[in-house]
Amino acid sequence: MGELILAIETSCDETAAAVIRDGCRILSNVVASQAEMHAKYGGVFPEVASREHVLKIIPVIHKAMEQADVGWRDLNALAVTHGPGLAGSLLVGVNTAKGIALGQNLPLLGTNHLEGHIYANWLDAGLLHLEPGMEDAFPLVALVASGGHSSLVLMRGHGDYVELGHTIDDAAGEAFDKIARLLRLGYPGGPAIQKAAESGDPTAFKLPRAQTKRPFDFSFSGLKTAVLNLVKKLGDDNLPINDIAAGAQAAIVDMLVEKTRLAVEEYNAQYVLLAGGVAANNRLREEMRARAARPVLYPPPKLCVDNAAMIGAAAARHYRRGDFSRWDLDVIPNLKLVNR
Ligand code: KG4
Ligand code: ZN
Repeated sequence: MGELILAIETSCDETAAAVIRDGCRILSNVVASQAEMHAKYGGVFPEVASREHVLKIIPVIHKAMEQADVGWRDLNALAVTHGPGLAGSLLVGVNTAKGIALGQNLPLLGTNHLEGHIYANWLDAGLLHLEPGMEDAFPLVALVASGGHSSLVLMRGHGDYVELGHTIDDAAGEAFDKIARLLRLGYPGGPAIQKAAESGDPTAFKLPRAQTKRPFDFSFSGLKTAVLNLVKKLGDDNLPINDIAAGAQAAIVDMLVEKTRLAVEEYNAQYVLLAGGVAANNRLREEMRARAARPVLYPPPKLCVDNAAMIGAAAARHYRRGDFSRWDLDVIPNLKLVNR
């Protein structure tokens, strides 16, 4: 049996802990969401988020250990997200992980949140894990699209990343959230827009697809402004919310798919891998499958959004290489995806 890792994730508004065996088997995956609390602000309120983490982190860890039915002595390492994310939120997880690692004499694995999103594809139900031979699926193009990040990454091997492009303004998930706010659909916006779009006509309104100077960059702020202008023009009463939601979703997805498709061709990638909260989007999954001309892999929806299982999956590779963190491990709010 492979290594047993307790992973902790507190980079944004989910307090999460998971126990992972062998880098891919989920023994437990506990997520305490603050979404309801932040809904009244229409987004994440950083100070509220850190204080909620302080309240919930220990109960969440206890629950993860109980559900996995393991004790402290069974663990081989402690993994924790140390960036990117909100500084105050990250600090809660990092300090908790340090305390447990010190007390239990376990190695500490500071883990990159974005690498976690990518490695969610190697977990339990992950296709990469199940299909023999697919460990050699490289090079592949990963689309990492969440509330804080949107980038296209060429993955040449495990831990070997080249960022091909990124958003020059809003992240894709942020675009979903902001447009949802304009349509008064609540927070988080992605799932709300997806639902409203089900009964909308995506062609009812003509919405823009942004061009960018660099071929693999994204831009979503023009779309947001177009929706704002449309809402103003049509007025709040009798707003065709479902049609606008469908049109906006189609535009975001179209931009994401088109750039990914181009990157796949340019770098002759064998697979497309979707990661981050936006990878939960149905239309993105369907359109990518229809247009990418390569097999498209994505985690089940609850492993697309923030969770600690994905942190354990990414950390397992570092554990095997003895790539441990020192006791002065710090939080890095703007941490990039770096080769390790
Ligand atoms: O990865 P994640 O949980 O947190 C960050 O690291 O940011 O992503 C959250 C983002 C939010 O912006 C949310 O609106 C979006 O992912 N999201 C979706 C869907 N589910 C979550 N966007 C589109 N469609 C969805 N079904
Ligand atoms: Zn995330």
